[in-house]
Amino acid sequence: MIYLDNAATSFPKPRNMIAAMEECALKYCGNPGRSGHHMSMKTGEEVYRARRAVADLFNIDRAERLVFTKNTTEALNLGLKGFLRHGDHVVTTAMEHNSVLRPLKELEKKGVSHSIVTADGCGQVRVQDVERAIRGNTRLLVVTAASNVTGTRLPLAELGRLARSRKLCFMVDGAQGAGALELDVRKLGIDMLAVPGHKGLLGPLGTGALYAAPSVSLCPLLQGGTGTESRSRQQPLEFPEGFEAGTVNAPAIIGLGRSAEFVRRVGADVIGAYEEDLIRYLDEGLRNMVFVELYGPPAAQKTGISLFNIEGMDAEEVTSVLSSRYDIAVRGGYHCAGLAHKAIGTWERGAVRASVGPFNTRRDIDALLDALWQIGRQR
Ligand code: ALA
Repeated sequence: MIYLDNAATSFPKPRNMIAAMEECALKYCGNPGRSGHHMSMKTGEEVYRARRAVADLFNIDRAERLVFTKNTTEALNLGLKGFLRHGDHVVTTAMEHNSVLRPLKELEKKGVSHSIVTADGCGQVRVQDVERAIRGNTRLLVVTAASNVTGTRLPLAELGRLARSRKLCFMVDGAQGAGALELDVRKLGIDMLAVPGHKGLLGPLGTGALYAAPSVSLCPLLQGGTGTESRSRQQPLEFPEGFEAGTVNAPAIIGLGRSAEFVRRVGADVIGAYEEDLIRYLDEGLRNMVFVELYGPPAAQKTGISLFNIEGMDAEEVTSVLSSRYDIAVRGGYHCAGLAHKAIGTWERGAVRASVGPFNTRRDIDALLDALWQIGRQR
């Protein structure tokens, strides 16, 4: 299959990641932080190595402030629900994924309000509009690094400066940017960063992480065993164990660590530039087809996503034909981010999303373009 659904999860994965998971499962997988025997200790050391590797990708100094989660959704829920209190106000944008928009809706029940800043037809958000939405009780600005629908990159540096000048906590959803954009928490002034392990970091599914700067005070989402202070009824609040209650998915985390090392060796900027080149090539091809409607900004202003529709055809139908007749994987319909579809004008019909990763080539793009040309001509 030609895999162009990397925004959902990346495929294939680096071999060193798979080898590390296998070695852990076969040779030493004890429960980290729970016992003093060598299997437990070795697993703990390898989990620490993974924490350091992921932290290094984002220029995070204190690796212990990076908490492993099962995905970005859990990381965002932890950041939002662990930080916000009754009476707080949050500013966010229409380009957010439901993993930001739904927790914020739920938090209304706890007296936390929010404002959603609109985006233009390309999915771009203006910093002035964000500034206008800030109120006296605003405590948090939460934005996506890049839209999972159009790939549109948000102006993180300017938004970080704005948040700092207004003394707001600045939280970034790195679901589509991590591994392909420079997400340097210190340069960008990011206080909380939520990332998936299984997309741009090329790790296994079921992995993610939340970084919370030392200045951010958080409550854990879960209470339970931490391997520390076992006689206390109170949840320990030390990072990271207080925020990772229960046994962690050590083999997957260790695999994630190795894939993060791979991404760092290659360079997120190199991967981002390669993906941008593939998407520019794909967008050019799509623009040449009169029956294709292409959405979103030019390649230089987005991550590795092309979003489009074929005139007179349902997005799901295009996706299904691509899979069944041409063996090409893309995602169609809505992409768990309803307001983004409203902003770009695909609320009624959704759209087809092709998303590239570091292992795609121009041949994959040619195969997609040829298939779309045939589908469009035969419709
Ligand atoms: N959030 C993922 C996507 O955009 C699953 O496809």
